[in-house]
Amino acid sequence: MKLGVVGTGYVGLVSGACFADSGNDVICVDIDEKKVERMRKGEVPIYEPGLNRVFDRSIRENRLRFTTSLEEAFKESEILFLCLPTPPGADGQADLSFVLNVADDLGELFNKYPGYRVVVNKSTVPVGTADKVREAISAKTDEEFDVVSNPEFLREGAAVEDFMKPERVVVGAGTQRAADAMRTLYEPFVRSGNPIIIMDERSSELTKYAANAILATKITFMNEIANICERVGADVDNVRRGIGTDSRIGKRFLFAGIGYGGSCFPKDVQAIHHTAGQYGYDFKILDSVMKVNELQKVSIVEKMKEYYDGDLAGKRIGVWGLAFKPETDDVREAPALYITDALAKAGATMIAYDPEANETFQAAATSVALEAMEFTTDRDEVLKGVDALVICTEWNEFRRPDLDRFPKMMKTPVIFDGRNLYDLKRAKDAGLIYVSVGRPSVG
Ligand code: UGA
Repeated sequence: MKLGVVGTGYVGLVSGACFADSGNDVICVDIDEKKVERMRKGEVPIYEPGLNRVFDRSIRENRLRFTTSLEEAFKESEILFLCLPTPPGADGQADLSFVLNVADDLGELFNKYPGYRVVVNKSTVPVGTADKVREAISAKTDEEFDVVSNPEFLREGAAVEDFMKPERVVVGAGTQRAADAMRTLYEPFVRSGNPIIIMDERSSELTKYAANAILATKITFMNEIANICERVGADVDNVRRGIGTDSRIGKRFLFAGIGYGGSCFPKDVQAIHHTAGQYGYDFKILDSVMKVNELQKVSIVEKMKEYYDGDLAGKRIGVWGLAFKPETDDVREAPALYITDALAKAGATMIAYDPEANETFQAAATSVALEAMEFTTDRDEVLKGVDALVICTEWNEFRRPDLDRFPKMMKTPVIFDGRNLYDLKRAKDAGLIYVSVGRPSVG
């Protein structure tokens, strides 16, 4: 099929490249000329495992093209995906201006290049956005078109894998014609039998928020269980195993830590909470989720303060991990941003290492944190002579270091682990003082 993808952020770029990989002709549009130029040369602007391979092959075979012209993409496309940012506005409501501005332009383009097309909202958008996009286009044209909601459920760091083999595809379509077009497009991705679930647009829009909100709630619930474990002397890892084997609860997304981050959960929980409020409903559980998560992000700093009797001034802290999660260079709402800021404010200095996010972090961290920080590209360099190590991201390379070497390298062998990477007995045997989340402290 001939597809246009408007916006080449995470979702747009991955969707465009994966649709092209499955044999479609895809033109991606972005207003950022430099980015388009780089992508034309085959450069992938984000770090995402497997994306390079998909990208290279589709560009070489001319199925994936890039332009700054919406018109060029529109002219040739049967289906147009809107993958535009919907940042949180001042009042917590998602800002729809990018989406609606493009919808306006589409209306005019329909007059210039007549013919039925499907316009798909793939960005996470508030309930009712499909209607707004439809109204914006209809205000400019009498041509026939459909607006479809098709939320994306891919995870950063596993985006290509998730896109290629989705557990489900959700399509909110008001007409049979649009539903059929979407089914034809997605069938190659669900050959293993996973469902394409067709529903109305509003339910589809809400499905996306409900999915992220329940996952954020699940994590937050476990973080609160962890906080209780610390008080009653239980181990959250045992509790997790104990409850996760109940298939109604499930094993996944039960890992306690230093709070959820990223570009999706924080924004989407806030947005659905706000939407509920607009409709006169107080979504109380999500209010708590947001409050607990804010505290959880810096809970490790509280533990450090407690350990040092409130005085972190002059302490040199090693930091492992800056990205909001492994396998990405994304630091949006990463706990490391808050932790480094709090440590700097408490008078500590830091040396940090992340396999992919050293640069993105420096562009996003607070100036207070940056003044107190050094960065290195050597994992072990972080340990040398530090008073303590704090682990903020569970990259695989942090999982199995030779813990026996730590006491020799560090000034004092103290680890504050926000991701529960090490076995307690192993940490004890290595002579470490080891403080993690929801587990008894060691040493
Ligand atoms: C999330 C959803 O998982 C995707 O399904 C969704 O498509 C995406 O948001 C989106 O809305 O675009 P993502 O933000 O890439 O994906 O990351 P996740 O792997 O879901 O992790 C989110 C946060 O939860 C991370 O900060 C992670 O560290 C934290 N987390 C996750 C935990 O603290 N504990 C867990 O057990 C799992």
